[in-house]
Amino acid sequence: MAERIAEEKVNEIRQAVEIVDVIGDYVQLKKQGRNYFGLCPFHGENSPSFSVSPDKQIYHCFGCGAGGNVFSFLMDIDGLSFQEAAVKLADRANIELKLEGASAGRNPQMPEGSRQMIEAHELLRKFYHHLLVNTKEGQDALEYLLGRGFTTESIDRFQIGYALPSWDFAVKLLEKRGFPLELIEKAGLVIQREKDGTYFDRFRDRIMFPILDHQGNTIAFSGRTLGGEEPKYLNSPETPIFNKSKVLYNFHLARGTIRKKQQAVLFEGFADVISATRAGVENGVATMGTSLTEEHISLLKRNVQAVTICYDSDKAGIEAAFRASVMLSKAGFAVRVAMMPDGMDPDEYIKVHGEEKFRNEIVGSSATLMAFKILYYRRGKNLQNEGDRLQYIEEVLKEISFLDKAVEKDLYLRQLANEFSLSLEALIHQLNQFEQAAGPKNQNQPRPESRPAPYVRKTELKPAYHTAERRLIYHMMRDADIAYKVQGLLEGNTLNIDEHQAIITYLFAYYEKGHDPDPGAFLNDLQDNKLKRVVADIEMMPLNEEISDQELSDYIKQVLNYQKMLKIKEKMAEQKQAERQNDFLRAAAIATEIIHLRKTL
Ligand code: GTP
Ligand code: MN
Repeated sequence: MAERIAEEKVNEIRQAVEIVDVIGDYVQLKKQGRNYFGLCPFHGENSPSFSVSPDKQIYHCFGCGAGGNVFSFLMDIDGLSFQEAAVKLADRANIELKLEGASAGRNPQMPEGSRQMIEAHELLRKFYHHLLVNTKEGQDALEYLLGRGFTTESIDRFQIGYALPSWDFAVKLLEKRGFPLELIEKAGLVIQREKDGTYFDRFRDRIMFPILDHQGNTIAFSGRTLGGEEPKYLNSPETPIFNKSKVLYNFHLARGTIRKKQQAVLFEGFADVISATRAGVENGVATMGTSLTEEHISLLKRNVQAVTICYDSDKAGIEAAFRASVMLSKAGFAVRVAMMPDGMDPDEYIKVHGEEKFRNEIVGSSATLMAFKILYYRRGKNLQNEGDRLQYIEEVLKEISFLDKAVEKDLYLRQLANEFSLSLEALIHQLNQFEQAAGPKNQNQPRPESRPAPYVRKTELKPAYHTAERRLIYHMMRDADIAYKVQGLLEGNTLNIDEHQAIITYLFAYYEKGHDPDPGAFLNDLQDNKLKRVVADIEMMPLNEEISDQELSDYIKQVLNYQKMLKIKEKMAEQKQAERQNDFLRAAAIATEIIHLRKTL
């Protein structure tokens, strides 16, 4: 289980850092009144709806609803765990952070020795790079790279290196620097011989591509053979610091551009990422030889909403692109697919056709998801053949039935009708059948739960009880007496909005634990991100710290009135029903009840 950092420590850190400074590292902020404003780093926008309050030490986006305190900001923006965020902030504030419990691990992702493993990788990365660029031993490797089109600039940027054809270069170097061999074996850098327990280097005579985590630590290597040996790429094994299914190559360097452009380009191989960067596509990332995982997707999701897939144009690449496109669009991304001439990968394309063409004609002119799928379904079919043709038409019609814009549907239907000289009516008829078969839930809504929330300003007017509940919570978080008073006044009723009720339930638990009122600390204590956002939203309301008894009971009244109104509506329906059944006695009784209820409003 995750170790916990002592609460006093968390509070100490929270009070020692200034949220405006921390966020200022990521977002350009401008002071306006009491708060700071900037462009939200969590969604693409052109006018600033992201605000940071130095008084309350929280941030909130009126556009996408992101919000929280300095911890949640770092967690979201850098994909850190709470502990990692705490370590980072403690560092910043010069606070010593010792974790409770065993001396093990700094956090769940940083178990014992991780720091040292990273240091070993950092050291080797520098040495390998030096060997490649500055020494005679590295000359062949350097020439190979330059011959392939790598530039000295990209070699530096990606810190590419060379591992000597030695069995003990890394063993000796790391041992001399005091790294326990057992530890570097666990880090995947050396391998232990079975017969005598001695160690030898995993990477020998290979071009070394360091793999960095999202904070920029070197956590693994991939070594490419110079000759034709197998495997072509030798990767570090899974280790405590390297998890292939979580890491995206180049994410660390690409993040800024991905945010700025609000688009990421996903490649299959990291050689492609490097070439694409050279061609001016700096928002490229790649998986580490694995297929795309849900973990990769959630990392992307925290940073961007549009992804362009740019996989190899061979059979395997196209199949992989199709699977990735399904996963990404399910997750709510706007997906495009960049396609190259048959059999090519991006790296080769750039070599043959040049950087500009790659930028403009491949990435810049990527296909929409639907256009890609149409091509995908055509593959391997002979459309002259009736069976293949019918199958193709059916597959495309099914995809059309998932589209949710009528114009789009119309466009692709006409395209299909034209190509195969079919009547539009027949196609529409068939389409309707698919939609009916899919059921009303699916109709027009292939993936409702994963559709990205539309980023519109929330200008719609909220009902009175909504605001009343939020105001109550605002004051309940500041004064435990008020919290209990509200509880009494509610007389066993709950708040009307589930999230509000959940928040006050947690708030009472928070007070029961003996905590003093402190909205910032309470926000920290909340585990649920959705609730965190609501609390941040509430905290951003410009309210007085004081509340009079009169105001308090007005708010309560608004909360309870809504429930009474619901009850009245219910009763009125019952009354109608009774009248319809000619049960006038019952109808009259209900009418009296309604009058009573109305009086209490
Ligand atoms: P070059 O041949 O150097 O141009 O590489 P590439 O980028 O064209 O590689 P390829 O398309 O063959 O493979 C794509 C990705 O799969 C690579 O970036 C690696 O991450 C991974 N990969 C390729 N070959 C191997 C291998 O032999 N072993 C392992 N573990 N991974 C590999
Ligand atoms: Mn290649």
